[in-house]
Amino acid sequence: MKKNLVFFCLLFPITIFGQGKLYTEHFRPGFHFSPAVNWCNDPNGLVYNNGIYHLFYQHNPFGNVWGHMTWAHATSKDLIHWKHLPIAIAEEKDTMIFSGTCVVDKNNTSGFGKNGIVPMVAIYTGHIENKNQSQHIAYSLDSGTTWTKYNKNPVLDLGKKDFRDPKVFWYAPKNYWVMALMFPVEHFVQFYSSNNLKDWKHLSDFGPAGDTSGVWECPDLTQVPIEGGKEKKKWLLQMSMNGTMQYFVGEFDGVTFKNENPADKIFRPDYGPDYYAAIAYNQLPTAHQPTAIGWINNWNYANDIPTTPWKGAMSLPRTLSVKKINGEWILIQKPVEKITTQRKAIYKDLKVGFKNVMRLPITSQQCEIDASLEIGGSAGGLRIAAGHDHYLEIGYDTVKKVLYLDRSKTANQSFNKNFEKMNRFEIPYLSKGYIRLHVFFDKSILEVFVNNGDRVFTAQLFPDEKDNAIEFFSNNGSGSLGYCYVYEIKPAW
Ligand code: FRU
Repeated sequence: MKKNLVFFCLLFPITIFGQGKLYTEHFRPGFHFSPAVNWCNDPNGLVYNNGIYHLFYQHNPFGNVWGHMTWAHATSKDLIHWKHLPIAIAEEKDTMIFSGTCVVDKNNTSGFGKNGIVPMVAIYTGHIENKNQSQHIAYSLDSGTTWTKYNKNPVLDLGKKDFRDPKVFWYAPKNYWVMALMFPVEHFVQFYSSNNLKDWKHLSDFGPAGDTSGVWECPDLTQVPIEGGKEKKKWLLQMSMNGTMQYFVGEFDGVTFKNENPADKIFRPDYGPDYYAAIAYNQLPTAHQPTAIGWINNWNYANDIPTTPWKGAMSLPRTLSVKKINGEWILIQKPVEKITTQRKAIYKDLKVGFKNVMRLPITSQQCEIDASLEIGGSAGGLRIAAGHDHYLEIGYDTVKKVLYLDRSKTANQSFNKNFEKMNRFEIPYLSKGYIRLHVFFDKSILEVFVNNGDRVFTAQLFPDEKDNAIEFFSNNGSGSLGYCYVYEIKPAW
């Protein structure tokens, strides 16, 4: 009965008996994806098929904390409006369904296709608690709605306790599938190849490298354009560890990945606390920019965040490219273009000077702020969720030359000690003249794209509803706004 009720609610996510209207709760994001009810973590199996973007994700169908890992499923035509579909791949006996990828097997290399139907194939980690992680496959012949687990699973088992999160993609020059897999504890990625998604051959290893302070998870290798360079592309390897992520940029020849960034430096796709397990879409049309989605939460406090009846959300889809800046390949991320269709302009200001604190004559907890500002004093920037001695600050410190996000003054932090402690995030950054802060604030989610998207900060906050003012500030000196546009963003649910 419980299973039927959950299934019903996933299909018709409007109300749940006794729980009021879904998607109107305090803290509920309006233009970010979140499950109607219960827990979610990593995005899985991001793939584009016949005009539809699929989003599978780690989900607990039976509760609002991590457990019973299952692939849940949603689809979208524009990456903004999502439709919930029934559970895709369910936990079975002692085997949970951990993270992985999905591909559209156009040439039926797997042989799962029947009567000309192109199969979708999911490649995921089967997890047996404290015992084994091995790689499994499942297929769908109805565009991802129902799935059949392969009867000869696992397809890759090294008898290891930690060995997970396959990312699979088609590597056309060699006419085979490539899989990136994580050795979390040993801190390296293994690459494999296959002609049929069932038999896998080891190609090479990458790592340890960069940040090895926590277990490595969720490798994602994808090709991205170089900003401004028409034809050339680079390979981007992203991965997650310890509540944060890092990336490498270089070349992949179908066998080996070679990092071209300085080996002694750590590069992160996001410098805030709440962007994790991001992966890029598979099989987007050629003219489509590579696009990734990450989970907005952090394992250091994820199970305790004060949202109900759901926990966890996805980032705005971000387009990816790289740019060479001072001899280093820097990841450039931009919010998905389509988000502009949800906008309603509510404020505009050009060329204004300000001192101390300048509060805007509008309020919102669901908005986009696009501002360019010059900071004259020792530090300055933008505050959201401001009021009643609360605010979250995004700023630039001209003395320390750091960009920072500080949520130490936001309301409702006591739900978890780690959350209380993890309240300020700084990165060295050289800024001359105006800084652009392109901000998306969605009730309990903040994403900040700095300048052209060369630095990004994502953070959760749990403000009181009355903390809804927006302010610019400048400490010990004046600041000036080149421009500031504020848009209300219409909820997509
Ligand atoms: C990352 C992760 C993955 C794993 C999944 C389990 O957040 O730990 O490594 O597959 O979550 O839910």
